[in-house]
Order: sequence, then structure tokens, then C-alpha cells
Amino acid sequence: MDKTKIGIVGCGNISGIYFENLTKLFQNTEVLACSDLTREKAQQAAEQYGVPRVLTTEELLADPEIEIVVNLTTPGNHYAICRDALLAGKHVYVEKPLALYPEQGRELVELARERGLLLGCAPDTFLGAGLQTCRKLIDDGFIGEPVAASAFMVCHGHESWHPAPEFYYAPGGGPMFDMGPYYLTALVSLLGPVSSVCGMTKTSFSERIITSAAKFGQKIDVQVPTHVAGTLQFAGGALATMIMSFDVWSSTLPRIEIYGTRGTLIVPDPNTFGGPVLLRHEQGTSFSELPLLFPYSGNSRGIGVADLASCIRSGERPRANGELAQHVLEIMHAFHVSADSGFYAALSPACERPRPLPSGLVQGIVD
Ligand SMILES: NC(=O)c1ccc[n+]([C@@H]2O[C@H](COP(=O)([O-])OP(=O)(O)OC[C@H]3O[C@@H](n4cnc5c(N)ncnc54)[C@H](O)[C@@H]3O)[C@@H](O)[C@H]2O)c1
Repeated sequence: MDKTKIGIVGCGNISGIYFENLTKLFQNTEVLACSDLTREKAQQAAEQYGVPRVLTTEELLADPEIEIVVNLTTPGNHYAICRDALLAGKHVYVEKPLALYPEQGRELVELARERGLLLGCAPDTFLGAGLQTCRKLIDDGFIGEPVAASAFMVCHGHESWHPAPEFYYAPGGGPMFDMGPYYLTALVSLLGPVSSVCGMTKTSFSERIITSAAKFGQKIDVQVPTHVAGTLQFAGGALATMIMSFDVWSSTLPRIEIYGTRGTLIVPDPNTFGGPVLLRHEQGTSFSELPLLFPYSGNSRGIGVADLASCIRSGERPRANGELAQHVLEIMHAFHVSADSGFYAALSPACERPRPLPSGLVQGIVD
């Protein structure tokens, strides 16, 4: 198979699973080069995954053989590296969020369009077996017309495990920008785009103490809201209730539930690729767990990159595309805009529901 050549920028915490899957799981990708501000990290990844070239980021963007730049840096670096990569003529896939601010995201989407390049963005968990099974159940009418949904992600932040957790409390961080993309991308894939948002926000702790090993005891000044609650109106009519929080020690709330005119669907954790998927039909007496109808139930991060690589050849729109990520970025901002203004924030639902995966796929291919 003709493999698309990839350069990875940013060899930190999340990069391992991308290297693993883009070098071993997906049949249409190969990693040709990698870079990191800390060169040893790139060197170590290159040795571990057999990547031929360790470059500076500038050299990587200028390498004529690289077709897709995969940007796995921290959120504050997403916009500039994506812009430079697009200006260098590369297709781009970036970790979430697309950018810190909607204007930056819009510029990236527009730049890619002008240059005839593809722009993709994490998360790609909505292409996993669990969420694709939910998508098929909804599209096939198993719960009737969706009328409402709930989405909850509550935890006490990432400073207990991440080796460098400062970015989670800086602009581009906080629970909405960190975890919201998983929940919102899943909801948009299941229910379509959002037309308005009503939000409230809170910062319960002004500083955080790191308890993971490398920076144990160091303080982080919290610069962003760490509890975000609100309501979303979907263009299709459904209403969703959402809480994203780094201020809660524990809870029994579900992750995502979709309520339809004929039944209820319990959706798996959208930060994972597998199940369980549970359905209770109006005529049923209890929830039943359904079999997953698609491959990619394990950690398949990078499936969005493999899909983008396939779209370079086919001319189709990538599923985890820039317009979708931009819509998600605008929704996340809308929660904060609404909270600051005290009014609903209206959105122009400018993206389409991403195409579902086809049935009959085997692991390793995406189309
Ligand atoms: N850690 C996770 O579990 C996780 C999960 C899903 C998504 N993400 C997302 O992935 C992204 C990266 O997160 P992470 O946890 O891997 O962060 P990290 O801090 O562990 O790694 C980021 C790496 O990028 C490098 N970098 C920064 N600027 C650079 C530049 N200009 N050129 C080259 N390298 C540069 C840093 O040196 C660092 O090694 C974030 O957007 C995050 O939201 C992280």
C-alpha cells in the first residue's frame, strides 16, 4: 500500500500512542521524521519506533517528503505550528483544541481551504467502535428522534499524574478546553451541530499543587475556569445538559446519555474507543448491552490521521476535520462568552456531521 509520510512535532506524553499506531496499526501511514524542543525526546521516540529522521521543527516543515505534519505540542503552540505547516504546503493534523481562540481556528480552516490542503484535528475517539456503534443505532432509529442528552466529565484535574500539568490551568486548558472536545465532538457526531449555548463558570481553587513525581510540590496559578456548566441547543432541536469540571473529587454521574422519543442510549466514555453501549427501548424493562459493530475498540489514537491520509488520495473530506474542530472550539468559547455576558451565545452551525465509518471495516484500514 502507498503509505503517506508523516512528520510528528512534539514528542511528549501523548505522542507514544501516535507513534505506535502510525507505525504499526494503520496500513496507510509511515512516520518519516519527528521533532521536539527537547531534542532527546525526539531522539528517544525515533529509536523506539524506528523513525529515520530526527529534525528541528523548521527542518521538518521544510522536508519535501513529508505530506502530513502531526502537531502534538501543547495547546498554546497549536495555532503557530499549524499555520507554519500549512504555509509550508503540508497537510496538518493537530491535537485538540484546534487553537486557543476561534479567530485563530477560523484562520487555519481558511488557510487550508485556500491552499487546497487538508486540516484535521483530534479527538478521533468518535471513530472508535463504541461511538460509531452509537451513531449507527441513532441513525437507524433505535431511540427514535433524539430529544435531549446529558454529558458530564467531573474529576479533580490532572496534576496528580501528568509530569508537566501547567498547561491544563493556562488559556487553552481548563476542563472545557481539555475534555470538552471529546464530549462535544461525540455529541456533534451523534446529534449534529449546535446553534446556541448557555453557560456558567467557576474557579473553585486559585492554585493547584502538583503531586505527580517530576514536579512534586510545585504550585500552579489557575488562570482559567475549572467548573463549567450549561445547556446546548442543537440545530436539529435536541437539548443537552453539560458539566465539565476539574473541581470535583468524585461522582456517580454518567458520561453521555442520549434520550430519544423511543428509548435511551448510554454512550461509552468519549475519551475511549470501546464500549459499553447500553440501550433501553420504550418497550424494554432494563438496559441491555449491545455488541460493538465496528473495529477500533482499543486505543486507536491516530485513526483521524490515517483517515486524513486516505482522504489525500481519495479527495474526500476527512472525518475529524478542521471545520468540525472549529465548531467545537466555538462551542467551548460560547460557554465562557455566555457566562461572562449573562446571555445565551448564538452559533452559526457551520459544520456538517462527520461521515460515519463504513460497515465491514477491518482493523488497520479506514475506508
Ligand atoms: N497527555 C494526554 O493524556 C493527552 C491526551 C489527549 C490529548 N492530549 C493533547 O495532546 C497535546 C500534547 O499533550 P501532552 O500531554 O503530550 O503534552 P506534553 O507537554 O507532555 O508534550 C508536548 C511536547 O511538545 C513539545 N513542544 C512544545 N512546543 C514545541 C515546538 N514549538 N516544537 C517542537 N516541540 C514542541 C514539548 O517539548 C513537549 O515535549 C495537548 O494538546 C493535549 O491537550 C494529551
